[in-house]
Amino acid sequence: MRVDGKGFIVTGGASGIGEATIRRILAEGGNAVIADINKEAGEALAEELGTDRVRYLNADVVDSHEVEALFEAAERFCGVDGVFNNAGIGAITPSAECSDSDWQKVIDINLTGVFKVARAALRHMQPRQQGSIVNCASILGHIGQSQTPAYSAAKGGVLNITRTLALETARQGIRVNSVSPGYVNTPILEALDQETLDGLKELHAVGRLGQPEEIASAVVFLLSDDASFITGADLLVDGGFTAGKS
Ligand SMILES: NC(=O)c1ccc[n+]([C@@H]2O[C@H](COP(=O)([O-])OP(=O)(O)OC[C@H]3O[C@@H](n4cnc5c(N)ncnc54)[C@H](O)[C@@H]3O)[C@@H](O)[C@H]2O)c1
Repeated sequence: MRVDGKGFIVTGGASGIGEATIRRILAEGGNAVIADINKEAGEALAEELGTDRVRYLNADVVDSHEVEALFEAAERFCGVDGVFNNAGIGAITPSAECSDSDWQKVIDINLTGVFKVARAALRHMQPRQQGSIVNCASILGHIGQSQTPAYSAAKGGVLNITRTLALETARQGIRVNSVSPGYVNTPILEALDQETLDGLKELHAVGRLGQPEEIASAVVFLLSDDASFITGADLLVDGGFTAGKS
């Protein structure tokens, strides 16, 4: 199997797309660390999964020391063959009303956090000259949307830091890619009302939102050796959202 016996860290692994990725890695015979700040949900998920191939580790991607400690612990638990750099938050604020702290919080988690996790991953992968990192971007890194100034800036940054990291490491046996989901049915959308959600469905060519499992399958593909000639790429998994108007 593609990830059989290998070890992975999934940040934001306690919910939504991260949780679906944890489930997929385990289903394919891999080992995984659920890294999150939601201890209750992460521990409950690890217990529900009921296998010694998974464990929860509390780690805030904003905190460099916690990120380093996460990698040390994951190295001891299952090794770090791949990382899904997925933790993130949503934020909708008209730009004129976006405070310094609104801006900073999103940039800290969705962009700087991605860098800190990737940096720690490289420090663990470079000595072994192998590894795969998948960063979670978004369609909002590709197209504009009103009222998401920090989120859109962060996701655009994730797309381009992915290319930088890939170029730096391509001859070190390390691959770095991103996925760009369309709107996916996860708790991050809880702030949106039904009318907004119905409108969003229509913006996807397929006429519906994505399911977390549909993103997880793309992520596990990119993490695995099946994607051995893919680096510096972004995979849009968006039900045709960015293909254009039909
Ligand atoms: N759901 C969507 O429509 C959608 C679309 C495009 C991109 N994304 C991206 O997918 C990723 C996952 O989102 P989701 O939809 O599964 O949301 P979610 O809210 O279900 O999961 C996010 C997880 O990240 C964790 N997290 C938040 N801040 C953290 C931190 N500082 N350190 C560690 N963990 C932290 C949360 O506790 C949560 O478990 C995010 O990067 C998001 O921007 C989501």
